[in-house]
Amino acid sequence: MKLAKRTTLISPSPTLGITAKVNQLRAQGIDVIGFGAGEPDFDTPSYIKEEAIKSLQAGFTKYTATSGIPELKTAIAAKLKRDNGLDFQPAEIIVSCGAKHSLYNAIMVLCEKGDEVILASPYWVSYLEMIKLSGAKPVIIKTTEKNSFKISPEQLLAKVRPKTKLLILNSPSNPTGMMYTAPELAAFAKIAVDKDLLVISD
Ligand SMILES: Cc1ncc(COP(=O)(O)O)c(C=O)c1O
Repeated sequence: MKLAKRTTLISPSPTLGITAKVNQLRAQGIDVIGFGAGEPDFDTPSYIKEEAIKSLQAGFTKYTATSGIPELKTAIAAKLKRDNGLDFQPAEIIVSCGAKHSLYNAIMVLCEKGDEVILASPYWVSYLEMIKLSGAKPVIIKTTEKNSFKISPEQLLAKVRPKTKLLILNSPSNPTGMMYTAPELAAFAKIAVDKDLLVISD
């Protein structure tokens, strides 16, 4: 079978590769701590399981609105207001099957060949593959422990060109745990406004 050329642009997930390796070592009886796919180390709370069971038993199993049911969007808008002080209308909210799905959709609709996307390294591995799949060029700003794995506004400005479409900001960061301060984020926001740069905040 001949696959589309774009499938050659992407590489297998190193995270899943590490997870498979850990499982293989464990199967050999080797005691190993896995730093691959990250999942909570606790069971799904029972009130969540019970609501899911109740919904299934009530026949809530049919198609729903693609962008999310109105009750959920309203609840998310209320959460954003209550916990984050953010004002968003339900119509401005889209529900997806997790962050990966949202990021993929956003990058696919925003980026294409000829665009550049700025990303700080080390990064969560899927960003790079999504950028490549969109046809855009990843522009990586390297960070190190010495600068607390942070990029500076000056470093960002140095990478912004007319082709720059998007900045992906991941704070707190996977994998470093780095977190930008509010003034640091404000400096990035100012550059984004001045340079007409879109920002995905993950
Ligand atoms: C930085 C970052 N963004 C997005 C995701 C994907 O999240 P989800 O499991 O909600 O698709 C992960 C998962 O590890 C992540 O580390």
